[in-house]
Amino acid sequence: MPNTAPTSSPDPLARLIQKPQFIGWLGAADFARALVLTSDVWKTQAKGVPHNCLLLRVSGSAEAPADAELLAKLEKLKARSPASGGELTVEEFQFGLLQCRVLGTFYLQDGRLRLGSDVENFAQTAGLAVYRPEGAALEAIVNYISPARVAAAEEEARRLGLKGALPRFPIGTVRYASTERLHRGGGAERAVFHLNAVDFLARRTAVFGMTRTGKSNTVKKLVSVVKHTSDDFKLKIGQIIYDLNGEYANANQQDKGSIAEVFPGDTVRYRMMPAPGFELILNNFFRQIAEGHSTLRGLLEASKLPRSADLEAFLSMDFVPPNKEDCSSDYEFQRQSALHQLKLAAYQAVLARAGYELPPNFKITFEVNPAIRNKVNPSVDPANGLTAAQAYEWFYLVRQIQDELITTTGGSWIEPDTNVLINLLLQKNDQGGYIPGFRLLQPFKDYHAPNRSTDVCDEIYNHLAVGKIVILDLSVGDPVQRERLGKRIARHIFRSSMATFNTGQHPPHIVVYVEEAHNIIGRHEALTEIWPTIAKEGAKARIAVVYATQEVSSIHPNILANTENIIVSHLNNHNEIGELAKYYDFGDFADSLIRAQDVGFARVKTLSNPFVIPVQIDKFDPEKEKARLAGGK
Ligand SMILES: Nc1ncnc2c1ncn2[C@@H]1O[C@H](COP(=O)(O)OP(=O)(O)OP(=O)(O)O)[C@@H](O)[C@H]1O
Ligand SMILES: [Mg+2]
Repeated sequence: MPNTAPTSSPDPLARLIQKPQFIGWLGAADFARALVLTSDVWKTQAKGVPHNCLLLRVSGSAEAPADAELLAKLEKLKARSPASGGELTVEEFQFGLLQCRVLGTFYLQDGRLRLGSDVENFAQTAGLAVYRPEGAALEAIVNYISPARVAAAEEEARRLGLKGALPRFPIGTVRYASTERLHRGGGAERAVFHLNAVDFLARRTAVFGMTRTGKSNTVKKLVSVVKHTSDDFKLKIGQIIYDLNGEYANANQQDKGSIAEVFPGDTVRYRMMPAPGFELILNNFFRQIAEGHSTLRGLLEASKLPRSADLEAFLSMDFVPPNKEDCSSDYEFQRQSALHQLKLAAYQAVLARAGYELPPNFKITFEVNPAIRNKVNPSVDPANGLTAAQAYEWFYLVRQIQDELITTTGGSWIEPDTNVLINLLLQKNDQGGYIPGFRLLQPFKDYHAPNRSTDVCDEIYNHLAVGKIVILDLSVGDPVQRERLGKRIARHIFRSSMATFNTGQHPPHIVVYVEEAHNIIGRHEALTEIWPTIAKEGAKARIAVVYATQEVSSIHPNILANTENIIVSHLNNHNEIGELAKYYDFGDFADSLIRAQDVGFARVKTLSNPFVIPVQIDKFDPEKEKARLAGGK
């Protein structure tokens, strides 16, 4: 950079240069690397030269070059007096060479700062002054967004009815190295690092790191900063957290305070088992028939029971109501509707027989034509509702005279699925042999919530659409159900938002956080499964996904390939680093990621920034958050 313009210049390019931060001269450069001549005195004045500076990133020290011409050039540079060289003579300087990587070039176009990710012409670079930016200049560099993305953010803001641009979420401060003494010590100006909403919303963000290195803290920080920034901007952003350890829903001893505690009015918590302060994540099997049946199907399939013909038929049936358009006449539609009602009733009778509690005041209700009704049992009318016992008896009587009923109704009265359900209810197959029937469903009673009246997925979606924080506490309950439920909720969010998108409207902004992602998102899932689908198409549906895990290698390759933002703290083995090094310039940080175990010390690649930035993530501090909220700010 030219050693000329003042720090207070109105020129944004000139503002990047801070004279007291002079550390040396550029000795030589090519498209990828640069050699910087520095001295101990200059470095001390600039508070040390840590690894990984911007825009040249220092990658290490360098030996004196063998090239005689270059050596002569460096000797000349030594004699050149820097702006802040002090009283020392050339002989008193301890000169050294730094090996650097060229990250890009800042330049001005139409008065705006631009960053090209290469060097246009390196022939003229020797002899330029080199500075170590801090404070405002460093902030400008690490928070740079290209004019194209600024325009995209402005357009999105207009669409959302916001004045100005989209918000930014401050999540930490630049940290060059594990050792903080010089560049972050007392008096050093820290540079705040932001995640831009335009990079974060509707995008994928990965949080990687070994255990206890601050992944969950990063997620908590994000949730809280997104919450209060969106409140300030009056921009609704729904957030849902897949909380596998229960650490967002409950205050834990160690950290004193949880998201739920900090935002009590804006947080809704769900669990798989009843607990005070929590909504039940489960569905009411008598009311959400298709959902309940699909839950049972998943559980039965996972339980690997021997498959009888009746069980197979139960697994493959569905409860889609007849569609008027598909029926040849009104009469046909009514007939099919009656058959469907009877099938639902037979299914509910099976559930009740298996011990699934009926919802309060719930009766199994269906209409039957009077001729049949009188043949089965003239003393009850199912249209008035039957208790579980009455329903069992009613179907028992039907079975006694089933042949006769089929003859009188021309064989059209009981559908094959209904017949299977009656078999399960009465524990007899078509040949009259014993089958376990409804007993197969008994182990899964806990998945039914008799007091719920709406589909839990709809309820969750509605909370998200108004900008609430939903915490799914998945720390209790069985792992199979956890994964299934996780997918079902994700699928519902995706489908609901896509449906809005497909009608030409804008779906609400939603961020999905998945903790311990290796437990929720399978590495080998088909591309058509919900998580890879969201990763690919989430942008249209305005769904952002943030996933945290210790293992880079456990993440679905398509999800990783579609991840725009990566936040990574200490990793302890070369396999994981190797996975990561395939992306962007993370390879430059391989050694430091293995060496530095500091909590919350992350290397961050965002969509807008063409290179990785080392950041100390702020600690999520519940007391400070509560105080801020109490202060009305
Ligand atoms: N940026 C930070 N600054 C200060 N302390 C932090 C920071 N990040 C995390 N901590 C503290 O370090 C501890 C571990 O953090 P955290 O639970 O976030 O790690 P983790 O990576 O999620 O671990 P695990 O893999 O076990 O879930 C916590 O006590 C937390 O408060
Ligand atoms: Mg964690």
